[in-house]
Amino acid sequence: MKIIARWCALAAFAAAALGATAQAQASTSSSSRPWWKGAVIYEIYPRSFQDTDGDGIGDLNGITSRLDYLKSLGVDAIWLTPIYPSPQVDFGYDISNYEAIDPQYGTMKDFDHLVAEAKKRHIRVIMDLVLNHTSDKHPWFKESESSRNNPKRDWYIWRDGKGHGQPPNNWQSVFGHSAWQYDAKTKQWYYHKFYIQQPDLNWRNPAVRKAMYDVERFWIRHGVAGFRLDAITTLFEDPKLHDEGVLRDASGKPLINAFGDPRLDDTRTNNLPGVHDVLRKLRSIADSYRGRQIVLIGETYVSSVADLRKMYGLHNDELQLPMDLQVGFINKLDVDLFRRRITEAETGLDGDEPLLVLDNHDNPRWDRYGDGVHNLDIGRVLATVVLASRGSAMYYYGDEIGMVTTPPTRKEDVRDPVGITGWPKEKGRDGERTPMQWTAGPDAGFGSAGVKTWLPIPPSYTTANVAVESAQPDSLLSWYKELDRLKHVDAALREGRQVMLNTTDSNVLSWLRQAPDGEAVVVTCNFTKEPQKVSFDLKALGVAGNSVETLMMTPGAVAPKSLEGVELPPFGVYIGRVK
Ligand code: NOJ
Ligand code: MG
Repeated sequence: MKIIARWCALAAFAAAALGATAQAQASTSSSSRPWWKGAVIYEIYPRSFQDTDGDGIGDLNGITSRLDYLKSLGVDAIWLTPIYPSPQVDFGYDISNYEAIDPQYGTMKDFDHLVAEAKKRHIRVIMDLVLNHTSDKHPWFKESESSRNNPKRDWYIWRDGKGHGQPPNNWQSVFGHSAWQYDAKTKQWYYHKFYIQQPDLNWRNPAVRKAMYDVERFWIRHGVAGFRLDAITTLFEDPKLHDEGVLRDASGKPLINAFGDPRLDDTRTNNLPGVHDVLRKLRSIADSYRGRQIVLIGETYVSSVADLRKMYGLHNDELQLPMDLQVGFINKLDVDLFRRRITEAETGLDGDEPLLVLDNHDNPRWDRYGDGVHNLDIGRVLATVVLASRGSAMYYYGDEIGMVTTPPTRKEDVRDPVGITGWPKEKGRDGERTPMQWTAGPDAGFGSAGVKTWLPIPPSYTTANVAVESAQPDSLLSWYKELDRLKHVDAALREGRQVMLNTTDSNVLSWLRQAPDGEAVVVTCNFTKEPQKVSFDLKALGVAGNSVETLMMTPGAVAPKSLEGVELPPFGVYIGRVK
């Protein structure tokens, strides 16, 4: 399995359900905080969540029909990857109309219904806003490509080549090969950071900005609670079109990526300063809907916590929640690295809210950390790191039941264009986009029996599914539910300060959460396949008490009597309140 989170290549250098009462309590006790602080956000890949119309593809009514499940999970919001009309070359990230719903997924009425039903359950809906590029079938691009003097020509990045069939420079697409596509009709090249069918918009053009700001307003009026801003760091390119630097190994040989191209330093097409002006404007629009608490989440693959800090804005006037992909994408169970990254998120963001992310639709699932023997215990460790740390948290549909990465085994089965271009080294992202596993029945309860699903149902569905795990107090699903619940109802886990404990221990990651009223909770996770024993002395931290009341522990663990001897099974977790 690929250990490096694939998508980081973009910036490589660089057991109780939350019942109504508990939820009401949680919202009263933290009502002074905006809803997205300490929130749990659940990413849904709509194609793969629930099919209700029998075409083998998930739809909006499918999501609506599963809202009670999402409520039982205790999530505050769902982020939907793009559901706009699209030729679906990049499964929705190639948008041909920003103000409508793709008929594959339903209608605007279905969308409004989903938002209204979600609201009844205190679940907010977050849309994916793809600002960097449109589909090549978007009417804007159709006009733009029609002639050199079309009024929309300058809505995209058109340039002359270097002659002899050579593109304007060496820039590359994240999806492989040159980022320039030649148009024979107008004899110029257009720039696409992603797929050929995803031409980049020209964000230096005020008309483009205005059109996109109107899209933001449109969806806020439709009741969404915020946006996840796709590929937000890639909006601008160097207007002078300088080549990007080629990355080399120690001997000076160019490094080659999975597509067989030299790896570039990304300095002319990613993270250019203009991005921050756009973020400020998007934020001011969001904030102008007073009382709505519209949240902006960023797809922010950056290389350091200092760069992540910048995404919040100098005056906290940009993103409220740029994704912290540093903590969740370490990709090996290294205690020291986890401790360092969590500490950075705690100290390097000037008190801003980190959004810890474990997984998404672009990277291998959580099982990339597995050892093949203790995978479920490792799943519990990961969930605990993301959900019991200070901050907001995000996880990906199916993580909670332990769905595993299931990549295609034959090129002809690949659906993701990335996998078609990159086969066999890069198999694409199908493996993490398979249908949600609801039951052990036909089609895993995803669609209608006998209907071919757009991606195959992984064999793991017979045991890793919602129905089976809901009935098991020891399941991964029950673990997630309980973590989500505690994150809302326990003051220390909800909004308490965080202090790393036993910071020289390279086997066990431990931390303290402490609520303003003094309530203290210790969280400790064994990152090894050996049993471990840990002790804590919290006096220096001003925490009195030496006994503990167990809040959660790995099945089979023995509840400790005091903080002086907490025994953890292999990859075991213990969470206890100090008494
Ligand atoms: C990031 C999205 O998460 C990914 O799925 C998509 O292919 C690219 N952006 C391009 O929009
Ligand atoms: Mg369908």
